[in-house]
Amino acid sequence: MITVSVVGGSGYAGGEVLRLLLSHPDVRLQQVTSQSHVNELVAITHPNLRGRTDLVYSDLVDLESCDLLIVSLPNGLSMAKMPGFRKMARRIIDLGADFRLKKPAVWEEWYQTPHRQPDLLSDFIYGLPEIHRNVIKKADLVAGPGCEAAVSILSLYPLIKNRLIKPENIIIDAKMGSSQGGNHFSFASHHPERANVVRSYEPTRHRHEAEINQELSINGESPRVFVSATAIDMVRGLLVTIHTTVSGNLRETDIWQAFRQEYGSEPFIRIVKQKQGNYRFPEPKILSGTNYCDIGFELDQSTGRLVVIGAIDNLGKGTAGNCVQCMNIMFGFPETWGLEFAGLHPI
Ligand SMILES: NC(=O)c1ccc[n+]([C@@H]2O[C@H](COP(=O)([O-])OP(=O)(O)OC[C@H]3O[C@@H](n4cnc5c(N)ncnc54)[C@H](OP(=O)(O)O)[C@@H]3O)[C@@H](O)[C@H]2O)c1
Repeated sequence: MITVSVVGGSGYAGGEVLRLLLSHPDVRLQQVTSQSHVNELVAITHPNLRGRTDLVYSDLVDLESCDLLIVSLPNGLSMAKMPGFRKMARRIIDLGADFRLKKPAVWEEWYQTPHRQPDLLSDFIYGLPEIHRNVIKKADLVAGPGCEAAVSILSLYPLIKNRLIKPENIIIDAKMGSSQGGNHFSFASHHPERANVVRSYEPTRHRHEAEINQELSINGESPRVFVSATAIDMVRGLLVTIHTTVSGNLRETDIWQAFRQEYGSEPFIRIVKQKQGNYRFPEPKILSGTNYCDIGFELDQSTGRLVVIGAIDNLGKGTAGNCVQCMNIMFGFPETWGLEFAGLHPI
């Protein structure tokens, strides 16, 4: 049994981590911190946890040592606090952006602020098990990927690795639910403004481009991946439609083979490409609360245009589920513990 504490547990990502950890057979949840709800019951901010925990929120300054610290603060806050966190736990998973990028200059370019702990960047492992499982096994410090980056990298990795697509001008059209913005509201998230939207909010220069390009720079290639982000009327969920061009005269069986070879034994990746039914391609609607990443594709052989489609729950495989999967790997637990939920249908 390990002890785990969650910093920033009153937020959406932290709350989902709590839900998963409370059902984990080998975890004792020790402390949960909040900035604005100290001494309040956790189940007040996360009403789905009523009757599942009687923990109250702690102040960050009262944090005690534990086996694993999960940090779920807004981007840019954990880097300054990291030396203090490291005194509390040998193993840390940080869900924010602060330690995802390897080069301080790249951080500065995309986040427009100097990095406060540049020497620590190389100590963090990018926490995507399907790509970095063997290093995560031995890691003390793991950086959880951005949700949009996670689904995009997983959708493209086998294609880039096997040189099946042209590495330039890969266009990711991402459609996002509102919970990816966190629990702090603004005029833009006010219900009359946010409900029913199909709103382009970052047509270019989405920050996750930096980590996607970093993680897909394999085989000596530096692919050029571009993201356009659209907010849609969904609370949880993320769909990417990725426009690529195949690098030769390929058939759909070649694409199938690459995905099967890479992900055939992955517990949380499903290749979804069916000829019948309503859900022929990946769809976030049926992934709510799960740790699945569904990936599908269609090749127009006459033009070489390959469209890859990826779907996740941004709070599942996009953050908290993936975090628990990394934790399982770091502590030698079966990788699927706490993550067996199959999702709901209809929903
Ligand atoms: N939401 C997603 O889909 C998603 C996906 C991938 C990665 N992430 C990453 O996960 C992290 C958390 O995201 P989120 O959506 O859960 O954000 P959130 O809902 O805004 O939660 C942020 C948490 O941090 C606490 N906090 C804020 N400022 C603080 C401060 N100065 N000192 C101490 N605690 C402070 C908040 O406490 P109070 O609320 O009590 O003030 C809350 O518990 C972010 O770095 C984000 O990039 C999120």
